[in-house]
Amino acid sequence: MESIVKVERPADGVSLVRLNRPEARNALSRALKDALDAALLDAERASDVRVIVLTGTPEAFCAGGDIKELGAVTVEEQLAMREHPLWRTLGALRKPLVVAVDGYALGGGMEIALAADLVVASEGAVFGLPEIRLGILPGAGGTQRLVRLAGRQRALRYLLTGDRLSARAAQAMGIVCEVAADDAVAAAVALAASIAAMPPLAVRQIKEVVQLGPDASLATALALERNANLALFGTEERTRRMKAFAEKGSGRA
Ligand code: CAA
Repeated sequence: MESIVKVERPADGVSLVRLNRPEARNALSRALKDALDAALLDAERASDVRVIVLTGTPEAFCAGGDIKELGAVTVEEQLAMREHPLWRTLGALRKPLVVAVDGYALGGGMEIALAADLVVASEGAVFGLPEIRLGILPGAGGTQRLVRLAGRQRALRYLLTGDRLSARAAQAMGIVCEVAADDAVAAAVALAASIAAMPPLAVRQIKEVVQLGPDASLATALALERNANLALFGTEERTRRMKAFAEKGSGRA
């Protein structure tokens, strides 16, 4: 039987994780969440992986929670579980996560995109948080991440209606960094490969300050930034690159 999550290495330092449950539009069954969580943790631990790309299948990135499974969940089970570990893993990855969206990113699928560091979408990608139409809300970070990214007016506009957004509208709202003219996965892998070629400690420090800073006061966030940069000044990589620049002239460090 084919695995519901596939992992490839399309470029140096890049792990490509694919959701592979197309017959259910990659709906997040318990089994798919377990398998995705394990694949992300493997990539996070692998010393030869620097950037993770997550994608789905051409029909859909992910249609969200598995509604057929969710229909049978009791409130007691939901309270006991609180949240699936996948959602904590997504929020805690130290390596950059690039999500490539083809087709639908709905509900939990859009919440994965909202938790990513970078989102590349194909022209035809469709985003949306239709949970309200099921009598629930986007409970995997969707309400809070959307308001932080897009502001209260635009967040409520979509949260309260469940209306869908095009890739371009999602880009205008700051949810998507790039709309790929051709192949979103190839564009995401190219972006990931260019990040993977950067000094890894600088990548890590930049991701961390960008992730933590907005939750702190500006003064605290600026101190965080200064200290992160100070740590980078202590690295051999910094010494080597600055020396190379000084010796060889501009553009070659
Ligand atoms: N859960 C379970 N099964 C789903 C599913 C979902 N979220 N989305 C699609 N499927 C299944 C369909 O039931 C169908 O199965 P059968 O062939 O057995 O009937 C199969 O996938 C194909 O679906 P469609 O025929 O509907 O495919 P489509 O291409 O015409 O439409 C779609 C795709 C627009 C994604 C549509 O399926 C849809 O609207 N799905 C539901 C989206 C949704 O409401 N998501 C929110 C879920 S709640 C949530 O996300 C909360 C959370 O857990 C964080």
